[in-house]
Amino acid sequence: MTEFDPSDKLSERASRVEEAIIIQMAQKARDLRANGLDVVSLTIGEPDFDTPRHICQAAKRAMDEGFTHYAPIAGFPELRSALAKKLKDENGLDYDASEIVLSNGAKQSITNAVFALIDPGDEVILLAPYWVAYEGIIEMADGVPKVLHAGIEDDFKVPASRIAEALGERTKLIILNTPNNPTGAVYTRQEMQAIADILAPHPRAFLLCDEIYEYILFEGTHTSFAALPGMRQRTITVNGFSKGFAMTGWRLGYAAAAAPVARAIAKVQGTFTAGANAFVQRAAIAALAGDRGDVEQMRLSYMRRRDLMLNALATIPGIKVAEPKGAFYMFADMGIYLGKTAGNRHIATAADLADWLLEKHLVATVPGSAFGNPNCIRLSFAASDEDIKTGLNRMAAGLAELE
Ligand SMILES: Cc1ncc(COP(=O)(O)O)c(C=O)c1O
Repeated sequence: MTEFDPSDKLSERASRVEEAIIIQMAQKARDLRANGLDVVSLTIGEPDFDTPRHICQAAKRAMDEGFTHYAPIAGFPELRSALAKKLKDENGLDYDASEIVLSNGAKQSITNAVFALIDPGDEVILLAPYWVAYEGIIEMADGVPKVLHAGIEDDFKVPASRIAEALGERTKLIILNTPNNPTGAVYTRQEMQAIADILAPHPRAFLLCDEIYEYILFEGTHTSFAALPGMRQRTITVNGFSKGFAMTGWRLGYAAAAAPVARAIAKVQGTFTAGANAFVQRAAIAALAGDRGDVEQMRLSYMRRRDLMLNALATIPGIKVAEPKGAFYMFADMGIYLGKTAGNRHIATAADLADWLLEKHLVATVPGSAFGNPNCIRLSFAASDEDIKTGLNRMAAGLAELE
């Protein structure tokens, strides 16, 4: 009897989704380290700070108090109310607590929303550079990603006029992320208003605003798309605790949306998982109510490291960057170095460049192809001063070798 081979019998859906390049790069860096090499990683997509102590203590207390059972699918009423207040006070949004659904991370909130809104063949407009996960989620839902590009000359922001050209009958959703991963770009209120103006007459398109980096903002104010006149009904506001509160491993995010959408989101969540972790939700209540000193300290540290990285990059000829206004990433345009060679190695794309920088110069970055732009690499400044300095010194030395 021949042995059963499971590898060619997987669903088409599972087979078509590729492993993210970010994960591949992080794995390569780990493999080199395991071989004793001193790799500096600038790939990290999470705070390098620990979660503030009072939040950890609240979680421990909650466990002792017995919050170890299933939580309601959409979340504890107290947390949903606290979030309704946060959205009102900080973002000028009017959501009832019943219109807020807690999930296992913002990523699940986005997944829920996509499954709640997208039918096979529906188009979802992505504004590149974008967080790579969106594409996989849309494909899993049999939606069709339609990618619009913005380059460094646009400050990495897709102008409303370009969205107007792409918006069609099949468009069901636009995903906007501000502050942005991987560029740190922040859409201004005026830029968002221009998008709202073109969206307003559209009969069926929603907009999902991913605001996960809201608290990591270096200048100006954060605008929530749902706060723009007339946009509340068609916006899904997604946010979470991962980045601002340094709680990536806790897995807690949320979506706020008009009641019918929020109900559909909760239904999707109830189908795939259950309510988010009970004691984590109790800790989140403490995070919202508690002192924000740590959140501010982390923001200031990222800002200082951003400047450190910008100064170091300024000394390397030919690299173009747009100063990040938020988040903790820089998207460096490496176009000038592409098409060059290092010995017998041809560097055709940013992916070749990132591989070579890692293998030969022991600095790990993420190629821009992971975010819809093949000329750039993403550098994370959620890293120590030491790693930023060493990483960029190595990059400079490596790039100087290219001919
Ligand atoms: C733009 C963006 N949205 C959402 C997430 C995911 O957040 P969470 O950890 O809450 O799932 C990330 C994480 O990298 C992100 O960069």
